[in-house]
Amino acid sequence: MRKGVKLKDESEVFIREMHADDLDRSLTFFRSLSDGDRAYLRRDVTDRVVVRERIERVNSGRVFRLVAVVDDKIVADGSLELEAHGWKEHMAEIRLIVAPEFQRKGLGTLMARELYLLAASKKVEEIIVRIMAPQKGVQAIFKKLGFHKEAVLHHYVKDIAGTKQDLVVMRCDLEELWQKLGDHLHDSDWRRTR
Ligand SMILES: CC(C)(COP(=O)(O)OP(=O)(O)OC[C@H]1O[C@@H](n2cnc3c(N)ncnc32)[C@H](O)[C@@H]1OP(=O)(O)O)[C@@H](O)C(=O)NCCC(=O)NCCS
Repeated sequence: MRKGVKLKDESEVFIREMHADDLDRSLTFFRSLSDGDRAYLRRDVTDRVVVRERIERVNSGRVFRLVAVVDDKIVADGSLELEAHGWKEHMAEIRLIVAPEFQRKGLGTLMARELYLLAASKKVEEIIVRIMAPQKGVQAIFKKLGFHKEAVLHHYVKDIAGTKQDLVVMRCDLEELWQKLGDHLHDSDWRRTR
């Protein structure tokens, strides 16, 4: 699946699933991020081993990764992680990161939309996103993308500098989102089933 989309500046980007041979492209992408954008990521994604593991987790069938590509370069990375079977089976978590030079052009929104479609095709009902409290701008963006603040876990995580930070959990009910955005979101190109 490879989908061409237009950004606000009329440039064209392709959104597709991440492949095993994306390791070098993915490393280049993460290494090009600003310290600010990388500071709150969970793992050291400048490390080749970590990035290889990320890609290999796709084979588990519970993690789905999408990338946005321009001229064979990755410019955004998004993932949908399904909860294990059991009491949170209807839930999934998304993560999203857009290269600095491609931010504020609508790419985050387009990637989020594809992740919502992917979630719907896996019969997910609710999505959460976990954000460190200092990322106020990111919380505002996810609010626009249909999430609301659900909980704050005090001093729950450490940032890359080792400082404890509050963790904000935001939540999005897909059924409510469909009603807001319209039925077309039910039509998914991401066909794999759970
Ligand atoms: C969060 C992120 C993915 C958004 O990507 P993006 O491509 O810039 O988002 P969009 O251009 O689609 O913008 C979405 C909305 O948020 C608004 N927005 C974008 N950046 C903003 C900012 N820094 N402050 C306030 N609002 C902002 C936009 O105006 C847009 O609203 P609109 O469509 O009504 O105009 C990107 O900022 C990012 O990669 N941040 C660092 C990584 C991160 O912290 N990820 C979250 C943890 S999972």
